[in-house]
Amino acid sequence: MDIILNIQNLSKTYQSGGNTLTVLDDINFAIEAGSTMAIVGPSGSGKTTLLGLCAGLDRSSSGIVELNHIRLDNLNEDQRAHVRNQHVGFIFQNFQLLPTLTALENVMVPLELRGEKHIRPRAEALLEKVGLADRGHHYPSQLSGGEQQRVSLARAFSNSPKILFADEPTGNLDAETSEKVVKLLFDLNREAGTTLVLVTHDLELASKTQRIIRIKGGSLISDELTNTQNLNHAGA
Ligand SMILES: Nc1ncnc2c1ncn2[C@@H]1O[C@H](COP(=O)(O)OP(=O)(O)OP(=O)(O)O)[C@@H](O)[C@H]1O
Ligand SMILES: [Mg+2]
Repeated sequence: MDIILNIQNLSKTYQSGGNTLTVLDDINFAIEAGSTMAIVGPSGSGKTTLLGLCAGLDRSSSGIVELNHIRLDNLNEDQRAHVRNQHVGFIFQNFQLLPTLTALENVMVPLELRGEKHIRPRAEALLEKVGLADRGHHYPSQLSGGEQQRVSLARAFSNSPKILFADEPTGNLDAETSEKVVKLLFDLNREAGTTLVLVTHDLELASKTQRIIRIKGGSLISDELTNTQNLNHAGA
């Protein structure tokens, strides 16, 4: 069993006005490469914070974050940015596309950062996959929310990440678009063998993954396999 993400005794605290606010408290779990998992829990329970720490966007106060056998908690921002570009895809709840770049250019950014060549055809192929082949020259402001979400999906997969984190990937979408985005997420995930970790309030979406962990008040309160795990392994 290959462990792609290993979290040990992870805590995150903030200091404010002489008080210590504990946002995450002694979290432990490990994720097998290629698997799918959902993180659920009430608003403010620490889900986004946890995802950011797992992806190396932020640093823990204490504890270990090991991504693809690399200790992130020991690295500085530049070193973490490098690991992210090599191994991580991230879909933000609010998309976070660069407003001054077209859809196609947004998808090309991670590839450019890696110094890869012939990136335009690859970015075009990804946009085609998410059904936006003819929208590559449009800026984010010219796209609907669902279209921006799909561009952000194409961008997240562009560097062929080993692990993909998605924070409320369907949070801002209507039922029909949401269904399309979810299908894409799982299809791309299956095709590329990527590990998928998503945060969601939608229990139906959570139950499509193989495993659900529940966070409450910064603590991990349950960690369960779902009965879809065999289906997913069979490629159904
Ligand atoms: N920079 C910060 N300084 C102080 N407190 C913070 C900071 N960032 C987050 N928090 C607090 O940490 C807690 C967890 O926030 P987080 O965004 O991880 O919650 P969440 O589970 O993702 O909630 P939601 O479902 O609403 O997105 C919240 O109480 C939040 O106010
Ligand atoms: Mg959140």
